[in-house]
Amino acid sequence: MKRFTIGNVSFDERRQAARFLRGSGIEIGGSYLPIPVDPRCCKVQYVDKMTASEIAALFPEVQGFSMVETDIICDVEKKGLSLFADESQDFVIASHLIEHLPNPLGFSKDCYRVLRQDGILYLVVPDKNWTFDRNREVTPLVHLVDDMKRDVREVDDVHMADWLHHVRNRTVPDDPAEQQRLVRWELDRSIHVHVWTWEGMVEFLRHLILQEGLSWELCEFYLPKKGQDEVIFVLRKVSGSPEAVVARFDSSIETLLARENAMKEMVQEVDTQNARSDGSSNGEKRVQYIPSPNHSPSPFRRLPSLRLRRAWRWMLRGLSAQPADSTPERSGQQEKTPRSAYKATWNDLSTSLDRAKMHVTGYVEEDRIQNSAEETKQVLLKTVGIGADDVVLEIGCGIGRVGKVIVPLCKEWIGCDVSTNMLQHAAERLNDYNNVRFVELSGYDLKPIADQSVDVVYCTVVFMHLDEWDRYHYVLDAHRVLRPGGRIYIDNLNLCGEEGWRVFEQHRTVPPEKRPPAFSVSSTPQEIEMYLKKAGFQSINVENHTLWARGWGRK
Ligand SMILES: C[S@@+](CC[C@H](N)C(=O)[O-])C[C@H]1O[C@@H](n2cnc3c(N)ncnc32)[C@H](O)[C@@H]1O
Repeated sequence: MKRFTIGNVSFDERRQAARFLRGSGIEIGGSYLPIPVDPRCCKVQYVDKMTASEIAALFPEVQGFSMVETDIICDVEKKGLSLFADESQDFVIASHLIEHLPNPLGFSKDCYRVLRQDGILYLVVPDKNWTFDRNREVTPLVHLVDDMKRDVREVDDVHMADWLHHVRNRTVPDDPAEQQRLVRWELDRSIHVHVWTWEGMVEFLRHLILQEGLSWELCEFYLPKKGQDEVIFVLRKVSGSPEAVVARFDSSIETLLARENAMKEMVQEVDTQNARSDGSSNGEKRVQYIPSPNHSPSPFRRLPSLRLRRAWRWMLRGLSAQPADSTPERSGQQEKTPRSAYKATWNDLSTSLDRAKMHVTGYVEEDRIQNSAEETKQVLLKTVGIGADDVVLEIGCGIGRVGKVIVPLCKEWIGCDVSTNMLQHAAERLNDYNNVRFVELSGYDLKPIADQSVDVVYCTVVFMHLDEWDRYHYVLDAHRVLRPGGRIYIDNLNLCGEEGWRVFEQHRTVPPEKRPPAFSVSSTPQEIEMYLKKAGFQSINVENHTLWARGWGRK
């Protein structure tokens, strides 16, 4: 008997990805390799078309694995998730399932339907390039859309012939009895009806967001590592317009892809070192996301400007060790934007309001932005206070997230930023107020602001993007523009806090040449204190929070 091998399973990543699972949910087709969940916070019901003993009889090669018992018998191929009520599950796990289904788009919509708001879809899909499907064509998205429109519930002969030819290396037998027996056996054991690469799966999910209106937030994304074949997506059911949701999805893919490539690079480095000592080679390639023209719409086609498109492509190509083509931009001599090019960087990150919102807050919905602004307002009220007679200045005001809730409390609010685009967005968002002023900065000082003309200066969620000298330069110049007795508030991610340290560790996985110019760099509370002290502030307070280091003082 041929033993079943599980060397291609991403055990560590499966476990990591399971951290998003909470509450009660279902796993479909868990059988001999269910996703490991934390039993203290997850209750799983296992759904399958067969009982555990029926599965064991049909797949003798998995003998020895401890099977999960099927709790609910349901053939999702034919019935979808019709047994489950709308919004009845906290999570749905579908590991190595959708490639077996005749209508995977329809199934995905069903998963969305049964999930509660904030529920999780945990999806594991083999990348065909690393499986026995490698000789098959990627299933075009239009084909899947057609299957969904026709509500296909059976595997047809074309798929079966493709499977037999490319995977089993045989043709459909002429003898009807033999043909029937073979097809029956294959169908019972379930074939890979459709095949994807990981890029195809990304397009598949983008299609669900944009065309089917499923609001998926990407929480986690793992690519297959050496010897593995699985792509893991952890998706959260959220709300929002398709455009906004897809912008967030793209941004998450971009970030997580950077991490995956950094990981791959590290593995490769170790392999190269090992190869030097034993003469072997790994030959793993870095990956690049280039959507197939068959799939639409691609993130590149959606991007608004050539400049932005270049930035994207630079980002992704920067992650790739694939040979470059002949354009100068790709000739391998591309320059990395220096961290200190604040104006160019932040103008690029704010070419549209949604893009600016994403880079300032990580989301685009006004209510979420408003909530986070209220939190910052509370911090400012507690630390420096805002009075009705105060002239208040924000360094790096972005889209006016905080400004919008501070303006009604003070005499005048001055939004300062290095980015012209950001200032424009802020001006539009604060259009209703006439006690606001916007000032474009060089990126290093508050030169346009008169000496001793301001009562409160604050700078929040900005220092992480600045070099240390420029952080201090702003504190020093704040001292100049503040009236005697004026107050200052500054913050940054806290290297000495538990959460802040986690961010630092995450960022450590990105190699130097892949770090984008606005890459966050944290501070220690001591650094914050030192700036305030050296700039001449008094009554200095510093707080050491789990994520934030905060400091404030008085002139
Ligand atoms: C993450 S956003 C934070 C925006 C705002 N403070 C908030 O909390 O909503 C960072 C902002 O700092 C601005 N910025 C970056 N470098 C700057 C610099 N050197 N001088 C002034 N502003 C800068 C960016 O344009 C962007 O608007």
